[in-house]
This record gives sequence, C-alpha cells and structure tokens, in this order.
Amino acid sequence: MTDSSTQLGKFSRSIAGRTAIVTGAGSGMGRALSHLLIDQGARVGLLDRNADGITTVAAEIASAGGNAIAIETDVSQIDSVARSVATVRDTFGPIDILVNNAGISLASSIDADEDAYTSSWARTLEVNLGAHTTTIRACLDDLARNGEGRIVNVASTEGLGATPGLSAYTASKHGVIGLTKSLAVELGRRGVTVNCVCPGPIRTGMTAEIPDDAKDKFARRRVPVGRYGDPEEVAHGMLNFLFPASSYMNGAVLVVDGGMTSQNT
Ligand code: NAI
Repeated sequence: MTDSSTQLGKFSRSIAGRTAIVTGAGSGMGRALSHLLIDQGARVGLLDRNADGITTVAAEIASAGGNAIAIETDVSQIDSVARSVATVRDTFGPIDILVNNAGISLASSIDADEDAYTSSWARTLEVNLGAHTTTIRACLDDLARNGEGRIVNVASTEGLGATPGLSAYTASKHGVIGLTKSLAVELGRRGVTVNCVCPGPIRTGMTAEIPDDAKDKFARRRVPVGRYGDPEEVAHGMLNFLFPASSYMNGAVLVVDGGMTSQNT
C-alpha cells in the first residue's frame, strides 16, 4: 500500500450514528437532505413550522427503517429553537450536524408601501438570516465538543447576484454567505466547520407556483443543463460538507445551479 492510500484511508466518509438537525425539513431540499442523511445512517431531528410536512417526512423515514423525530419549530423564535434542540439531544444525543435550510421568499419591491416593505424585510431577515444564528448558538456546545462539528447554511444564487423585486431575500442570502465566512473564521479552531450552498432554481415548495412552461423557458435560456434542479441534487452537494473527512473544507461557498452563474450569455 502506498503512502497516499494509507493517508486517504484515515479519512472517514461515514456519518453513521451521528445526530443531525435539519431545519425546514418538511419540504423541498430539507426533506431530500433528511432522507439522504438517514440513508447514510444518521439520526435526524426534523424541524419545521409546518407540522404536517415533518410528520409526513418522519413517517416516510420510519417506514424505511430510519431514525428521525419531527418537532414543530419556528426557527425565528429563540424559545422554540431551544426546546427543539433539547428534544433532539435528549432523544439522539449531542448534535453533530446542523443544516440551516428553512427559508422564505417574500416579494419586496422597494417602492411597495411602507408597511408591506418593512414587514417583508423584517420577516425575511429574521427567518433567512437571524434564525441561522439562533440555531447555531443553541447547538454550539454540542458541535464544538469533539472537533468534528459540521454546519451547513443554505444561501442561494441570490447571495451572489440579484433578481429585481427581491431585495430582502437577496440581502438575506448575501448575509448568509457573510455569516458563513465569519463563523468559519471564528469557529475553525474549535473544530466546527461552517460552509454554505447556493442552489440555483430547484423544484420545491418555494418554486411550486411557477408554471412548468415558465420553468422550462427560463431553464432553456439561463441554465446550461437546461432544466430546474431536483432537491436531491442539492442534498448531495450539502452531504459533501458533513463527513469527518471534510475537516479542511471551511468557509466554502458551493454553487449547485446547473452552471447558471457561470454562463454569461
Ligand atoms: P420549501 O418551501 O419547499 O421548504 C422550506 C421549508 O422551510 C418549508 O417546509 C417551510 O415550512 C420551512 N420554514 C419556513 N419558515 C420557517 C420557520 N420560521 N420556521 C421553521 N420552518 C420554516 O423551499 P426550498 O426551496 O426547499 O427551500 C429551502 C432553502 O433553499 C431555503 O432557504 C430557500 O431560500 C433556499 N433556496 C431555494 C431555491 C429554490 O429554487 N427552491 C433556490 C435557492 C435557495
């Protein structure tokens, strides 16, 4: 056996037996990631304000023999997050993996009336950005306990560019990238890695109201692979940050967009 293969063999790509929390687990990418984590042998706390969604996902996982618990949670509420994290810890043991995926997309045209704009701005920032700090603070002692804590934040290609009429969403997703880098720098020495993914257009609850022909038209024009992505394709991107072997990936921004942001014309 060569030195390099010995070296490669030291690094584990197994998360079997690890405890994970996924926010927004009742739909879309959170649901897909939760199933993937279960396939990998992890135990998963499914957090979502949509109780029906996570109850359904928990039942799907149970029928496949996996270990998950559904906990209705509003990630923008500190008390709700604290209770849910404690429940996961009591059920499965200390948190090893935290994926901040819950998010909302509210229209926020800058010339909307005052009440509409300020409420859209406040709610978007508190759910899409502030909540990430709430969940991270609630899990931090667990994540830092053994040098193998893993955090993934879900940003967006709206964190790298912009679409008109979405200033709150776009600001929140640029903020997620900034928060990721900031905490990667702050927590690296404590053995906690912090990375983020930037999905492009993905078929989920968030994009369900866009008609299929409009999706296809957009994708043909803008996305080199010619289609919207599936949530499972983003989940596989996230998984790469979660292995013990991913210990030197920290502060990274992984774009999962079918090549959309690489294409100029
Ligand atoms: P989705 O709407 O299918 O799932 C989002 C989940 O978050 C829902 O189950 C919802 O109930 C939950 N959620 C919302 N607010 C919450 C709160 N306050 N507390 C707890 N749970 C809450 O949408 P999708 O697309 O799966 O969204 C996941 C993440 O991906 C979001 O952060 C979104 O911004 C991001 N994203 C989505 C893209 C897309 O094209 N679908 C593109 C880029 C980023």
